[in-house]
Amino acid sequence: MKKTVLISFLVLITMNLKAQTQQEIDIQNKITQLISQLTIEEKVALCSGRDDWSTMPIERLDIPWIWLSDGPHGLRRAPATNKPGYGDQLQATCFPTASALAATWDLDLVYKVGQTLGEESQTQNVNVLLGPGVNIKRSVLGGRNFEYFSEDPILSGEMGAAFINGVQSQGVGTSLKHFTANNVETMRMYNNSNMDNRTLHEIYLTPFEIAVKKAQPWTVMACYNRVQGEYGTQSSFLLTDILKKDWGFKGIVISDWFAVIDRVEAMKAGMHIEMPKVSPVNNAITVEAIKNGELDIAVVDALVKEILTVVFKAKSFQKEGVELNVEKDHAFARKVASEAATLLKNENDILPISKDKYKKAAIIGEFAAAPRYQGNGSSQVRPTKLDNALEIIKKEYGNDIEITYAQGYNLADDNDFSLINEAKKVASEADVVLVFAGLPLQYESEGIDRTHINMPPSHNKLISEIAVVQKNTVVVLTNGSAVTMPWLNRVSGVLETWLGGQAGAGGIADVLFGKVNPSGKLAETFPMCLEDTPAFFNFPGEQGDVLYGERIFVGYRYYDGRKIEPLFPFGYGLSYTSFEYSDLKMSSKNTTDKEGLTVSMTVKNTGKVKGKEIVQLYVSDTKSTLKRPEKELKKFVKIELKPDEEKTVSFKLESRDFSYFDAKRNMWIAESGEYVISAAASSRDIKLSETVNLQSTQIVPLAFDEYTFFLEYWNNKQTRKILMEYFPNWIRGIVTEGDEAEIREYQGFMVEHPLIKYPYITHGEITHEQVKELVEKCKGLTYTP
Ligand code: BGC
Repeated sequence: MKKTVLISFLVLITMNLKAQTQQEIDIQNKITQLISQLTIEEKVALCSGRDDWSTMPIERLDIPWIWLSDGPHGLRRAPATNKPGYGDQLQATCFPTASALAATWDLDLVYKVGQTLGEESQTQNVNVLLGPGVNIKRSVLGGRNFEYFSEDPILSGEMGAAFINGVQSQGVGTSLKHFTANNVETMRMYNNSNMDNRTLHEIYLTPFEIAVKKAQPWTVMACYNRVQGEYGTQSSFLLTDILKKDWGFKGIVISDWFAVIDRVEAMKAGMHIEMPKVSPVNNAITVEAIKNGELDIAVVDALVKEILTVVFKAKSFQKEGVELNVEKDHAFARKVASEAATLLKNENDILPISKDKYKKAAIIGEFAAAPRYQGNGSSQVRPTKLDNALEIIKKEYGNDIEITYAQGYNLADDNDFSLINEAKKVASEADVVLVFAGLPLQYESEGIDRTHINMPPSHNKLISEIAVVQKNTVVVLTNGSAVTMPWLNRVSGVLETWLGGQAGAGGIADVLFGKVNPSGKLAETFPMCLEDTPAFFNFPGEQGDVLYGERIFVGYRYYDGRKIEPLFPFGYGLSYTSFEYSDLKMSSKNTTDKEGLTVSMTVKNTGKVKGKEIVQLYVSDTKSTLKRPEKELKKFVKIELKPDEEKTVSFKLESRDFSYFDAKRNMWIAESGEYVISAAASSRDIKLSETVNLQSTQIVPLAFDEYTFFLEYWNNKQTRKILMEYFPNWIRGIVTEGDEAEIREYQGFMVEHPLIKYPYITHGEITHEQVKELVEKCKGLTYTP
């Protein structure tokens, strides 16, 4: 393709981004033409990276390369294509990490974070940002939890979609990662995420599905691990059947870095680009596979066509000479951090700090001076600047209140308690104490899972001892994921600030001093102890296999079912004001899966200051064929209310919101029956509930086969009739003979066998051929669930 063709492509594609126009069809034709000019070697080369961070160009045909950069909460743009970009990358704004973003529950805000990241990508000629990660926080020990949103699939998926839409609004692509069930760092290159299909669909696919359907990321990153025994990069079930066919994904799949084992199998499965560039060996093997007919050239052509579509699209949107607006983005990052701050305890309104309440505030803890603001690993951003709470508080809030400081602990040594005495003295001389504590960098890292969820001994001891000498103690936590709090009952306040990014200190200060009313809520359960957690016995797995034994009962679904009291439940967070819920209304008391249900309620600010509330809507199926969680989050919204102001919020529940995934029938089923709809301030604070009756209109295959139990055939009217045709004598026998107890025992035993065993059980009254025939007759039967 000559330059003129490329330019006209750029102009045309910019004209209409959405519908397939005639011009776009023309462009597709051009790509088809290009494909006819490419050699096999060139096509194969296009399916691998040029180097660490860019795709392969073909200069002969003017096919350009595009730049991919980590991500996700800021850019880690390496200085050169063949450098890793650890420490030497270009500077960029470091935003709060995903666990903090999720705590905002604010989709508009997360969209704007994405938008800003898209703008920053344009300043560094980054075409695709490698994120967001929507993997589920299955275990509190997950080393990468700070980089993921939530334990809940809906919240994770919605966050991911908002993030992607924001980035892509700037003409920059995203890479939705790590597809899928990438929930453990230990042996992440090999571990098999071993779970049943229902769990896979309900928990581990759903966030990806939401993000793909609502935001169409330009790329999806296939995971390192195996899923149900197959590598994510080689699974045609995941990459073709689910992603492409079921969800309508239109972009390309790239591998996680060094994830590919067998490129030929990966390409057959629907993976487009192996990243980064590996040795030429894989290219040679792939060329050979095409030449010997093992890999169909038509498959390769289809992949190349989709790669070129993304490459040209990315190039067409690339802007030159855009400048980074450091101050604007830093200020925005501060706002985001303040929105994420989650107030967990506030006894006697110890917060916010004001001059009316306190004259002298002591700040204790090295984190206040040397902040921990992001996680360890490939997501590490080199910030444009870095605030610390001590300076910000002194500068911006220190005029009215005297601020003192003590280091409290030594970040280089978790067991050094020598600084505690001095800290106690400073604390005892103040009116209120803010202890900055949490998890040091080495505690949370990509590639390494946590082995416990405790904070360093020096932090815990410091807090406990300060609480003895100072009744007004507030703990300001910095950590990317849940921790235990052995000192909780001894302190008056706890503010969870997550990993707040480069401007996090300012956001924290704004909340502590009341400029911003805290409005974050937990997107993950904080357990009392590690032993209480759902995956306790099955994490990080053994001998390369991770058994997802807790199945769909992840996070609050588990704590609810086991009636375990968490330290702080999913969805929980306090405010400096209070809210009242009233007037729960439903569009009808009776509905169908097709009609769905509109639910509304009124929320009022009953306190004295402006504040934001996160309204959560949960659905419970009171009686279900399959075991279901006590309740599941389906909708949420964040609203702002002035004192005395009230707003009505309304949600539309669709068929899927009532459904479970039936693995036997491979479909989502919304069963007829009663559902409880609850408006809640957290998963353990249900404000209002109503019951709706749903009549399903679905027609579902019965899906009986020779392994279906006799009892199931017997319990269904349609199949009972057919049973009677085939073995009337035997059936008459089990229904009428013997005394009652005998019959019950005998019948119970007899009917608990799959049909395939009945030729033996009935001593030949029914033959194998007849079982086959019977099963065949039942094949087309359906029912309404
Ligand atoms: C990580 C990805 C990251 C990639 C490139 C991998 O090790 O799992 O999340 O985008 O490296 O740095």
